[in-house]
Amino acid sequence: MRTNRILNVVGVLAISLGLPAVARAGGDATAGKAKAMACAACHVSDAAANTDIPHLAGQRATYIAKQLKAFKAGDRKNPLMNALAGSLNEADIVNLSAFWAGEAAGSDNKVAPEVAAIRKSKMTFPKDFPKGFTLYSTFNKEAQGLVAKQYINAAGLAAVKAGKPISDGAVIIMVNYVPKVDADKKPVVDKDGIWATDKIKGYEGMEARAGWGKDLPELLRNNTWGYAVFTSDKAVNNEINQAVCLTCHIPAAANNYVFGVKKMQAAAAAK
Ligand code: HEC
Ligand code: HEC
Repeated sequence: MRTNRILNVVGVLAISLGLPAVARAGGDATAGKAKAMACAACHVSDAAANTDIPHLAGQRATYIAKQLKAFKAGDRKNPLMNALAGSLNEADIVNLSAFWAGEAAGSDNKVAPEVAAIRKSKMTFPKDFPKGFTLYSTFNKEAQGLVAKQYINAAGLAAVKAGKPISDGAVIIMVNYVPKVDADKKPVVDKDGIWATDKIKGYEGMEARAGWGKDLPELLRNNTWGYAVFTSDKAVNNEINQAVCLTCHIPAAANNYVFGVKKMQAAAAAK
C-alpha cells in the first residue's frame, strides 16, 4: 500500500533523526485543566491586547512541554515563567501541555470573568500612609530611572521584630519617585549614590489579609497576599495584572513571599 510505504519512510526518517516515530505527549488533559486557570491569568488575552505573552491554545503539546522544561531548568529565561515552572512537576507539565494543545486555536482570545477576577487586586491604598509606617529601604531602580522608598506598617514590623513570617495585617508600600535632574538631565545624587527625589510617579503595594488568596489558583497563590499598583493619586491601576506580581514573588515563598526581610530586620534593629 502506498500509504503504508509513506508511513514507513516517515518512520525510518524519524528514527534516523533520533526522533520518536510517533510523538505522543501522553498527558491527562482533564488533570491539566484543573491547573490551567493559573496559565489563563496571563496567557488568555483579547486579540487586540498589547502584550508579548504568546497564546497557548492549539499549540503542539510536545512544544509546550519542551518550553516548560526549559523554563524549569533555567535554559530558557523569563523571570515569570522561570518562577512558575519551578513549581510544576513532570506530571503537571505533560498534563498542562495536553490540556492547552487540546483547546481550539483562538479559543483563548476572550478574557472570561473568572480570569478577570484573578487579575484584579483586592488591595486599596492605606488611608493614613505614611503614618504608622517605617521606611526600611531606599534605592535607585536604574532600569526604570526611578528612586524607590519602601515602607512597612506596624503589624508587619512587629512580625519582623518577633522573628515571625510577615503575614496577615501587614502592608508594604513601595513609593516610586522620579529623580531630580540637573541642567544636563542627569539625576542629582543625594547621598550614598542614591538619587534625589522629585515628584511621586506612583506606588506598588502588597497586603496580607486573612481570607484573601483562597479564590486564586493554587499555582499563583501567595498565601493571603494581594498586590496592587497605584497612581500618584493613590487610585488602583486596574490595567495591572496581579498575576504578574504573584508569579514573580514565588521565589520568595520561604519568607512568606517577601523579598526584603533582611532589610526590614536591619531597620527594626536600628529603631
Ligand atoms: C504571570 C504571567 C504568566 C503566567 C501565570 C504564565 N505564563 Fe507562560 N509565559 C508568560 C510570558 C511573559 C511568556 C513569554 C516568555 C518569553 O518571552 O520568553 C510565557 C511563555 C510561555 C510559554 C512559551 C510559549 C512559546 O510560544 O514559546 C509556555 C509554553 C508557557 N508560557 C506556558 C505556561 C503555562 C502552562 C502556564 C500555567 C501553568 C503559564 N505559562 C503561566 C507569562 C506567564
Ligand atoms: C520581575 C519580578 C517581579 C515582579 C514582576 C514584581 N516583583 Fe515585587 N519585588 C521583586 C523583587 C526581586 C523585590 C525585592 C526588591 C528589593 O527590595 O530589592 C520585590 C519587592 C517588592 C515589594 C517590597 C516587599 C518585598 O517583597 O521585598 C513590594 C511591595 C512589591 N515588590 C510589589 C510588587 C507589585 C505590586 C508587583 C506587581 C505589579 C510586583 N511587585 C511585581 C520582584 C518582582
